[in-house]
Amino acid sequence: MFFDTHAHYDSYKFNADRDAVLSSLPGLGVEYVVDPGCDEISSKEAIALAERYEFVYAAIGWQPQELKESYYDGALDVIRELARHPKVVAIGEIGLDYYWDTSYNDLQKEVLRAQLQMALDLDLPVIIHDREAHGDSLAIVKEFPGLRGVFHCYSGSPEMAKELLKLGWYLGFDGPVTYKNNRKHREVLEICPMERILIETDSPYLSPEPLRGTRNFSGNLKYIAEKIGEIKGVGMEKMARVTTENGRRLFGI
Ligand code: NI
Repeated sequence: MFFDTHAHYDSYKFNADRDAVLSSLPGLGVEYVVDPGCDEISSKEAIALAERYEFVYAAIGWQPQELKESYYDGALDVIRELARHPKVVAIGEIGLDYYWDTSYNDLQKEVLRAQLQMALDLDLPVIIHDREAHGDSLAIVKEFPGLRGVFHCYSGSPEMAKELLKLGWYLGFDGPVTYKNNRKHREVLEICPMERILIETDSPYLSPEPLRGTRNFSGNLKYIAEKIGEIKGVGMEKMARVTTENGRRLFGI
């Protein structure tokens, strides 16, 4: 029924009960999960989870916030090698984050471009993290015609969404669509065709209403599917089915 296209089960927040949480998911209607790595270690952990659970798939890459502390020359050679694993379905999450620290934007852009080129070379889709960096994110992905992927936890304007949709991108929606101040998400969803919507939890973060503030997990996708199904006027079940098909198409599952 559900496809959680973005959940970090490698996070330390699942250390105490990771296997119990993951084992519970099929019984809750979760058919597929993509766990995106954020650096080398978490990418390897995502692959290990994908090996252990048939319904879990891995994405691998360096997320912008992880670059400052631990990135090193040659780090992307390791990612390229890991990408040969049969359960790696995307390069991600990768992107730009100007929210916390803008002191190394040039490094962020350089590593993003290198990973986008890698995805094209490997014929894999990408998972883009764009926080407070909408203009640069859009400009950079446009430098790579033919690139496919999703803007995860989409937070840009409806105008930017139109440009991305025209280029074939998918848009990912998470818990914030269920929050009270969801006007922008609503506007974007109204113009986004059904076949380009993905649902994601970003677990352990971004729990939807009515569970906001608690640790998130893929069992909460129903709240997101319900809200989007309401906005699109199709209901929760159809929304779940269509977004699962969308995820399978994008990630080649
Ligand atoms: Ni994430």
